[in-house]
Amino acid sequence: MPTALSNQYSSVGPSIDCRRLIRLTNRLLQECRVADHTVSILLVDDLEMTRLNSHYRDKNKPTNVLSFPFAEGADPALAFLPVKELGDIVISVDTALREAIELGRPLHERLIWLTIHGMLHLLGYDHERSEADENKMLSRENELLHKVKQYRRTMMTQLAINVDHVATVRQARGITEPDPVAAAAICEMAGASGIVVHLREDRRHIQDRDVYLLRQTIKTRLNLEMGANKDIIAIALDLKPDLVTLVPEKREELTTEGGLDVLSQKKKIAKVIEKMAKASIPVSIFADPDPDQLAAANDIGATFVELHTGKYCDAKNEADRNREFLLLSSAAEEAARMGLRVCAGHGLNYHNTAAIAALDSIEELSIGHAIIARAVFVGLDQAVRDMLAIIRQTDIMI
Ligand code: PXP
Repeated sequence: MPTALSNQYSSVGPSIDCRRLIRLTNRLLQECRVADHTVSILLVDDLEMTRLNSHYRDKNKPTNVLSFPFAEGADPALAFLPVKELGDIVISVDTALREAIELGRPLHERLIWLTIHGMLHLLGYDHERSEADENKMLSRENELLHKVKQYRRTMMTQLAINVDHVATVRQARGITEPDPVAAAAICEMAGASGIVVHLREDRRHIQDRDVYLLRQTIKTRLNLEMGANKDIIAIALDLKPDLVTLVPEKREELTTEGGLDVLSQKKKIAKVIEKMAKASIPVSIFADPDPDQLAAANDIGATFVELHTGKYCDAKNEADRNREFLLLSSAAEEAARMGLRVCAGHGLNYHNTAAIAALDSIEELSIGHAIIARAVFVGLDQAVRDMLAIIRQTDIMI
């Protein structure tokens, strides 16, 4: 593990996404061409920072970051160890937070900037040596910050739009408009990366004609949501969508009510995945953020899981929402760690999507109702762009 992080920051305050900080620091080690080295990051409060600053620099006040290169004062005997140490970076979260507020930037951005600053010190840069050295360090800092932001952008969450709700309006009249196929084209032109449709057994909204026309017309990716039902499986194999998402389906439900219970029907779902694999169609499992369900999905060869965000979206108070969010964020990390690709969706809207989009392991969000509902008032193009703006905002949080 190139980056070891120890969070000793004890104040009740901002929560810090340590895994993200570790991932970005590992990326920095690569950018600085010292990926074969390890670095230790220690997060402390102002009190501890004052103690360290006073002990090592004779300054009885806190500072934002201190660096301790391993080469300085290291026991030469340790040079023979197989691990190469770059040194320690100590960051005061209290000071970082004050600076972030003053600069009007997110705390995570400040923490990564301080990590960059500390790492450059470990690599021999020193802004206190001369003006030329200061400029050199500043320009390298900006360059690395830009690289890290770019890295985050390439990992940026994609938006797939579920156009079932357009078909629901059409079916209410039993005529030909509004057409979900036309809606899909508008979504793509506004920047969506994929189109999702749920071909239900009862054909309450999306019709066979829609999926075949979408297959011919869309330019992005077609994600066919479906129950593990014989007739629909045959259609999927004929249609060859870019992705099949397996969901539980009950006739009496208004919308998909929960994740698929893979544990209780492993054999059945495994067979569907096998059939799809023969037709080169990857399968995603719509799953609750439950580690056992995710492990079962992984065991039977799913490529993706789509985490069910319904409970998070429907939470009635802050505490419930936070609890559901934590479940989702650790499930996303856990699924990615198993090697699954991770999507999320259900119930996401213009108020609750940003936090989910900021989770590093989630590649794509599947959103329908909120976007189609907003489209009634602002137009579909605008509604898609508004959602994309929310998702893209998360890239400046790093
Ligand atoms: N993902 C799945 C598996 C779904 O069943 C649905 C609803 O059709 C969605 C995402 C989209 O949910 P919403 O319409 O609430 O955005």
